[in-house]
Amino acid sequence: MDSINQIHLGYFSPTLNGAKIGQAIADGLSSCLDVPIAVDDWQTPADRVRKRTYSARDLCVFVMPVYAGRLPNLLLPFVKSLRGNETPAVAVVSYGNRNYDDGLSELSGLLTEQGFIVFGGAAFPAEHSFSTILAKGRPDAADLAAAEKFGQKLGVYILSAEAGQLDSVEVPGNWPPGPYFRPQAPDGRPINILKIKPEVNDDCIKCGLCARVCPTQAIDPADVSHVPGKCMSCCACIKRCPVGARAFVDEDFWIHVHDLEERFSEQKEIEFFAP
Ligand SMILES: Cc1cc2nc3c(=O)[nH]c(=O)nc-3n(C[C@H](O)[C@H](O)[C@H](O)COP(=O)(O)O)c2cc1C
Repeated sequence: MDSINQIHLGYFSPTLNGAKIGQAIADGLSSCLDVPIAVDDWQTPADRVRKRTYSARDLCVFVMPVYAGRLPNLLLPFVKSLRGNETPAVAVVSYGNRNYDDGLSELSGLLTEQGFIVFGGAAFPAEHSFSTILAKGRPDAADLAAAEKFGQKLGVYILSAEAGQLDSVEVPGNWPPGPYFRPQAPDGRPINILKIKPEVNDDCIKCGLCARVCPTQAIDPADVSHVPGKCMSCCACIKRCPVGARAFVDEDFWIHVHDLEERFSEQKEIEFFAP
């Protein structure tokens, strides 16, 4: 394989867990390979316009959150537009302590179809977008140190493979992916959170950050209490609000969150996959 001359860290990370994890993995790779990192944030529609094509001398670290056991469906057209040319890639997902189901297999499978050689993978438990209890505070310092070490290990593997062949890695989950996870109330009643929208309270200082970071640009920048567009419930506006002025108030949403908090409170380990 060709020697690597650029690391690309690409992520969609509304509440910034994946951004931190990806940075640590890329740092580990960069220190081992002595190659610079180009950070590519896919947060807003404007960030996602440019067509991305990578060569065999690029190394990509791509990080996505797991939504309903898969990749966020509104981001699928973008993920499917990434093009590799025998480009080494590391597929990484973060998930909120329930399960990553087919999220990692979907990311790895799509990248493989699109010309990447997925030689590394990882699934990181990280604080759930909906909660401050599930995987609270993760990724923490220990998680980020483990992520950096994993990057270094992958770097050593790349150096050894430069003389020969780069192998793909197997990751858990179905490919093609199965159906999306469907939230249910404890009594089995289906819960639908697709139509909810985040509300603002009187603490709002009208800084407009929520409108700027919204991945679907659903929030009216002239009046941030107005959410005319499609909300993907990512919680960027809630968790990144500097004064904590935003929240979902939907009753079923909170039934779902409390149920998750009760059932998935145990500490989960990071899973790493390498050849
Ligand atoms: C709409 C939505 C659905 C989610 N579904 C799942 C899920 O199926 N399993 C899980 O463990 N976490 C789930 N999460 C939690 C996120 O995967 C988790 O918080 C992730 O670390 C967020 O990444 P980010 O901080 O990079 O945005 C979901 C979050 C959202 C917003």
